[in-house]
Formats: sequence, C-alpha cells, structure tokens
Amino acid sequence: MQTLTVATTPFNDQKPGTSGLRKRVSTFQKPHYLENFVQAIFDSIAAPGGSTLVLGGDGRHYNREAIQVILKMAAANGFARVMVGLDGILSTPAASCVIRKYKTYGGIILSASHNPGGPDGDFGIKYNGSNGGPATETVTGAIYAVSKSIAQYRSVNAPDVALDKPGDHRIGSMTVTVFDPVADYADLMESLFDFGAIRELLGAGFRIKFDAMHAVTGPYAREIFVNRLGASAASVMNAVPLPDFGNGHPDPNLTYARELVETMYGDNAPDFGAASDGDGDRNMILGRHFFVNPSDSLAIIAANAHLVPGYRSGLAGIARSMPTSAAADRVAESLGIPCYETPTGWKFFGNLMDAGKVTLCGEESFGTGSDHVREKDGLWAVLFWLNIVAARKQSVETITLEHWTQFGRNVYSRHDYEGIPTDAANGVMQLLHDSFKTLPGKEFGRYAVAFCDDFSYTDPVDGSVSTGQGVRILFTDGSRIVFRLSGTGTEGATLRIYLEAFEPDVSKHKLDAQTALAELISIALQVTELRARTGREAPTVIT
Ligand code: G1P
Ligand code: ZN
Repeated sequence: MQTLTVATTPFNDQKPGTSGLRKRVSTFQKPHYLENFVQAIFDSIAAPGGSTLVLGGDGRHYNREAIQVILKMAAANGFARVMVGLDGILSTPAASCVIRKYKTYGGIILSASHNPGGPDGDFGIKYNGSNGGPATETVTGAIYAVSKSIAQYRSVNAPDVALDKPGDHRIGSMTVTVFDPVADYADLMESLFDFGAIRELLGAGFRIKFDAMHAVTGPYAREIFVNRLGASAASVMNAVPLPDFGNGHPDPNLTYARELVETMYGDNAPDFGAASDGDGDRNMILGRHFFVNPSDSLAIIAANAHLVPGYRSGLAGIARSMPTSAAADRVAESLGIPCYETPTGWKFFGNLMDAGKVTLCGEESFGTGSDHVREKDGLWAVLFWLNIVAARKQSVETITLEHWTQFGRNVYSRHDYEGIPTDAANGVMQLLHDSFKTLPGKEFGRYAVAFCDDFSYTDPVDGSVSTGQGVRILFTDGSRIVFRLSGTGTEGATLRIYLEAFEPDVSKHKLDAQTALAELISIALQVTELRARTGREAPTVIT
C-alpha cells in the first residue's frame, strides 16, 4: 500500500459554523475540498498513533464517497482502527453513544443535519471529541486556522471498503470495522426508559406515528418502536433513509413535516406524533391536534424526569440556549437546581455535562438531550415523552396544560426569514446594535424596553468567552425579543427572531402563540425595519 502526500492549496471558506462545516455538495466535490478539511481536522486533533475513530453519517448524497476518502486519509494519518456504521449510516446521537461506549479518540460525523440533501443539496462534516460531543470552539478554531495555510494532505492508494459488509476490513495496517449502527444506541435507550410501561401503553391501543422524514432515524425507529416496543410497522413513516431525503427538507417542524402534521391534526388522528431530522438529533413532539413547543418540551421533561428510570435519582442542573424560553428556568427553580443560559449550539453544553453541572439540555430549535450522550437526541426525547405519557396516563395536551397551570406559560415563537441577502441581514443587525443607546426606556404600546445587549457567555468550566451570540431586547415585564443570524445556512443569510412573553393567567393559556405575541411581533418588525430592508412580508418558517 502506497502512502501519498498530495500538494494542495487552502480554501478560504472552511470556517466551521454552529455545527461543523456545511456547504453545497458541489463545493465538497471540488478537488481537494473535503481532503483539506479532513487533514485540517487530523492536524488539529493530533491523535496519537494507534487511535480509533468513529465514522458515519446521515446517508445523504456524497456520504459513501466521503467515507471512502476519509478512511484512506485516516490510514495515512496513523489511525489503528476506524469504526464505520453499516452502509455508512450513523445518526449523530448514535455516533456520540458509540464514541463514549468504546472510548474512541473521537469521531467524524457526515451530516448537514436538517438541510436538504441530494446532488443540489447540502453536505456537512464535523468532528466530535472523546467525550462524544461536538468539538469545542478552541478545536474548531484550530481546524479553521490549519485550513487557511494547508499545503498538503496524506492519503493512501487502496481499494474502497465494502461498507455493506459487517466485520473487519483492512487498509494497510489500519482496521476498518463495519458495525451495526443501531444496536448500541437502542440498548442505551432501553437502559434509560421504562420499555415495559411503554410497551403496555402501546399494547393498550395508544397509537403513535413517527416520521423519519426519509432520513437517518428510520432504522433506529423501526428497531426501537416496532421490534422492541411492539408498535405496528405503520407507526413509522418515511422509514428508509434516502440520499435526497425523498426531495424533502428533513427538518421536524410544522412547515417541513407537513405530512405528519396533517395526520396529527386530521380526523382519527393518532394519540402521539413525532419526527426527527436528517441526522437524528432533533425532535418534534405532537399530541392529537396539539403541538408542543420545544422550549416547553424541555421544561416538561425536566418536571417529569422523576417518572423515568434513568433520571429517577434527580437532575444535577439544566442548561438551555439563550434564545430558548425560560420555561425550564421555572422548573429548575422549583427543583432547587441551577439553570445555565448558553449561546446557541450544542457544543456549549459539553463542558457543563462533563463537569457534572447539568443533566438535561435543550434548545428551542427542536433540540433536547441529556448527559447520556453529548449530542441532542431526537429519539431519546420521543421516548422520554412516551415514558411520561405511560407513567401519567394522560394525553400530551393535558400534560402540557397542567404544566402551564403549575408554572405559568412562557408563550414563545420563532420567526425565520430564510435566504435573505447577506447585506440586508447584516444591515438589520447593525441597525439593532446602533439602537442599543436609544432603545432603553422607550415605550411600545404596553411594552417598555428595560435593556438591550449582544449576548456574551463565559464558560463556567474553562473560562472561555464567546461574544456576539445574539441581540436581546428585554422589556420591563420580562418579555423579550432576540435576534440572531443563523450559523448553519449555506445560501444567503437567515435571520431568526425569537419572541417570548410570560402568561400566568390560566384562562389565556389556550390562546394561539401568534395571537398572544402579536404586539411583540410588530415591535420586532418596527425596530429592524425588516420589511423595508428585506422586501419580505412574512417569515419563511414560524415555530
Ligand atoms: C441552528 C439552531 C441551533 C442548533 C443548530 C444545529 O443553528 O438554531 O439551535 O444548535 O441549528 O442543529 P443556527 O442556524 O440558528 O445557527
Ligand atoms: Zn440535526
């Protein structure tokens, strides 16, 4: 086997975003593009010779080709072993689970998460460390620095590995172990949740519908819901991972999971509905004719954790991203445990979990998880809810309404303006910054601005500081509006507007969030001059 040192020149756009490097497939297909980034990872992490790496992805277009490239580069960079999911499949939470279970040096996950796939869609790559979590900003910064000055990468001349054949293969002296990507993860879920109680619930006629959105969770959902929990095969829809996700947008929200939403709001709807995204780390929870906002989901999971075997001994703390509603804070307060507010992105939770400061973490963007792995985990959240329903013997809607009665409701919504011109988006953010001095004290109808800032975070574990994490306008009554530009998009810019108001009055809890937040929504449009600056009349996605 011949080791190759290939001369290359840097690309100037390989800065990892909120979650790894995401670009169009065609960008990754440019000669040396993928190789440069992979070599930048290997140079930055400096794995000792003889290390093991986990590798797999969400099955999107270019997944298999990229795996073959990375395997050969891993062999040339001194890895002793790479564990690859069968057919190149590995959900993000399952990758985290396997890295931890087999104590590997780290892992490379190929995914652009919820972004569309196919030849004209997106591809992505990210590195996770030995704790199973996304590389910290220090590591991603180092990867970016290397990518800007890279002059060569290493690979080997070797035939492709048969990814459809389980067992050990060899590339020179490196072993490639093709393994079942589902079993370890399903075992972990079975160790956390009361599968007996859920099986009984399903056996008693409780009907569920899980939408895998033609993405990676199909095989996981079949094994867990159908094989282990006895749900009917029809309970899992769009269960076969496709390279183009069936031309869909594998994002579990009210807009893109339309088929599931129509089923759950239709006649004779099932009792429980859920969906996950491209790589299996997001979740959407629905009851019959009912949507659970992800911020509420985190709070409800926390408040009911004592009903779930894996969490019965109590929670160390909760962490939520800054734009996520403060519903979880109220639960933390009543439990007498700390609640941390971090910037957007799962990588900020890793240190808190590793230090034992938090058990549960969540983001408003359909992300919930715990310290069982170091990624958010879609199926975990679905199983958590099923466990709660099985224990309380109440509907999703009743559980949520009772939660609001006890804690009050943090009415919440996120408005996304996708694919707006970058200049216009930057202009809006600049305008907001420019108004920091004049906004405080200003009145908008019944709302008065208390203060505004651009959120910055000091990691309580390693002291690292992250600035510019989102503009916040806080009002005197505790309501707030947050503005951020997305760090995961690949085309133009996406402006996210997060709106939150607290409603203690039970008689108003059933109000539609858009109605309840109407005044805040109009303030957001006013202070950003959004319509004039972007020409957009309405958001692309409302959650
Ligand atoms: C989005 C979400 C964020 C999440 C990330 C990765 O990032 O808002 O909460 O961690 O995807 O799934 P954004 O596009 O807003 O930077
Ligand atoms: Zn994802």
